[in-house]
Amino acid sequence: MNYWRQQAAAIRDRLIQMRRHIHKYPELGYKEINTAKYLADILRSEGIDVRENVGRTGIVATIVGAAPGRTIALRADMDALPIHEKTGKPYASSIAGVSHACGHDAHSAILAGTAILLQQHSRQIAGTVKCIFQSAEECPPLGGVLPMIEDGVLEDPRVDAIYALHVTPDLPVGKLGVAKGLAMAASDRVEIKILGSGGHGSAPQQAVDAVLVAAHVVVALQSIVSRNTSPHVPAVLSIGVLRAGYRYNVIADSALLDCTVRTVDNLTRQLMQERIEQIVDGVTRAMGARYELRYTPGYPPASNHPEQVEKVIEAAEVTFGPGSVRLLQQPSLTGEDFAHFLERVPGAFFWLGARLSNGEKQYPAHHPSFDIDEGALPLGVALFCQLIEHELFRE
Ligand code: NI
Repeated sequence: MNYWRQQAAAIRDRLIQMRRHIHKYPELGYKEINTAKYLADILRSEGIDVRENVGRTGIVATIVGAAPGRTIALRADMDALPIHEKTGKPYASSIAGVSHACGHDAHSAILAGTAILLQQHSRQIAGTVKCIFQSAEECPPLGGVLPMIEDGVLEDPRVDAIYALHVTPDLPVGKLGVAKGLAMAASDRVEIKILGSGGHGSAPQQAVDAVLVAAHVVVALQSIVSRNTSPHVPAVLSIGVLRAGYRYNVIADSALLDCTVRTVDNLTRQLMQERIEQIVDGVTRAMGARYELRYTPGYPPASNHPEQVEKVIEAAEVTFGPGSVRLLQQPSLTGEDFAHFLERVPGAFFWLGARLSNGEKQYPAHHPSFDIDEGALPLGVALFCQLIEHELFRE
């Protein structure tokens, strides 16, 4: 078996323990205080240099090799989501309304395990490995990456290349997905407030029903992707929140729509913004209502760099075996603030297969019942270590 597979298998129980601890005590973006401390304590006990409060709650663990050389960064995100967990697992979230429904618990455990193994092998390293545990990946538009960059995470020593992984239920354990070029979409937010005029449910003629206006706006907005954007260019508009009303017999005076917009090029990004405003303006006007609209640009599109993609593929073929890599032809329309790193440093973002394999029903990420196969944890560690071996190990 591959050397790093063996090394990672030997710390498998520890990886599961770390993942479950972080899973059980999830913290939202910018509030990962206990998670960061938990990881920092573990890494320090291994003799690793750790810097805390980078950006806000981010931490950076640095492994200094025995000889000088390049600097490679590996990144994990630590934040959970405001979702109430319903997996019913023994390690399920103990915090009501907060859970690791995106697998960032796994990413943190994988990176901590990687740091531990690389520290044990530091005499073979020529250069430096920076393990970046970022906060607030799920908190666009700011996110946790930009504050960390402002706090110097890419400097001293300067990072030459950067890698990150994300677990995915779309691939089984032992497989890896990577896109050559565009990996992820731009993700923007639109908040729309529809202002009608309230009244008694029995006398609609005296009111402007914000619920009805909102319903028309929802339907009309969904015509943008089918009728205005090119069928050859991916785009998504999802209305995650529609909130209105007080009581069954009262006509609502206002309604709130909170939406996410995903695009992969600037032309479509601009078109979406223009059409949303035109439609909201037209529909509300036609129905006698008014509106307030706030469009907040979020994370930029994330593009992988070809040289680093090749290195990921090479490392996966060595650790997982030939045929383990799926080249993704289409970008994922998820947004990621790892994009900010990729705008400044060559790097690659890839998907690590983590689909449940024991006959359990698999739910998608961000679902209250989302869970992963923990067999992915040592594989993630092995892959990161293999990448660092290719990048930095002395002959
Ligand atoms: Ni995520």
